[in-house]
Amino acid sequence: MAQKIIIDTDPGQDDAVAILLALASPEIDLLGITAVAGNVPLDLTQRNARQVVELAGRDTPVFAGCDAPLARPLVTAEHVHGKTGLDGIALPEPTLPLQAQHGVDFIIETLRREAPDSVTLCPLGPLTNIATAFQRAPDIVERVRRIVLMGGGCFEGGNITPAAEFNIYVDPEAAKIVFGCGRPITVLPLDATHKALTSKDWIATMRGMGRIGEVVASWTDFFERFDVAKYGSEGAPLHDPCVIAWLLRPELFKGREINVEIETSSELTLGMTVADWWGVTDRPANALFIGDVDRDGFFDLLTERIGRL
Ligand code: BDR
Ligand code: CA
Repeated sequence: MAQKIIIDTDPGQDDAVAILLALASPEIDLLGITAVAGNVPLDLTQRNARQVVELAGRDTPVFAGCDAPLARPLVTAEHVHGKTGLDGIALPEPTLPLQAQHGVDFIIETLRREAPDSVTLCPLGPLTNIATAFQRAPDIVERVRRIVLMGGGCFEGGNITPAAEFNIYVDPEAAKIVFGCGRPITVLPLDATHKALTSKDWIATMRGMGRIGEVVASWTDFFERFDVAKYGSEGAPLHDPCVIAWLLRPELFKGREINVEIETSSELTLGMTVADWWGVTDRPANALFIGDVDRDGFFDLLTERIGRL
């Protein structure tokens, strides 16, 4: 039976590829997409999510969630993703309507309606919607099958500050709630996602794969400029698609069950994922923290699935 998931997202070119990968995969039953403020403000992330669903020719419901972090002003990343969040190629204004229900209410209602332990949450942005749902409806927490999220870093440090990765940094209070929720968590941190780098050959392959491939190539081309300038590496890291790839092919990834705590007060290390990779504390493990990915296997999967759309 297909795995039921909710994608919680702030698209973002890499979020968009993750959504396409989920939509292309029969092993996944995407119940809905909840947008959150992150890479760009909420009015753009919900619109971008609808554009991506429409690009794939689907009608998956899209909900707008929270427009600001729990306790801080929103920090955005137009310097990475462009003014719209999905810069790289112009897409038509979406006709897919935005659902009237709030994204947080959709998460709560879905978890109460579906069988316990049957719905996996896949956050690809700041954790505001998920934490708000857990705070508002604590009864849903034990019904969550697993949370598979992109965020954090250990040996890679951070990308928005030396210590913090963007998704966790934007809403550290929300991340603290999620990491402390007691349900199984898989973390795809920078340590893994910085290895999922596009290559010129892969982008050329995408360009030859029809309309959707061409859009993916244009997004990743745009996204790549930032990382090449910053890290001197070739290629764009496809952070968020790693979440969906882990669901589909966990054997492509290697990690450890460790304790991860979130820093919420230090000025210097705000939003740091304090990951006890070496087990030097006696704090109990609360997450499967991924450290490595089979890059070729990951891109083969992506190519094959994008080709199905
Ligand atoms: C994460 O931040 C966003 O810019 C990307 O979409 C990804 O979710 C990487 O740090
Ligand atoms: Ca994202």
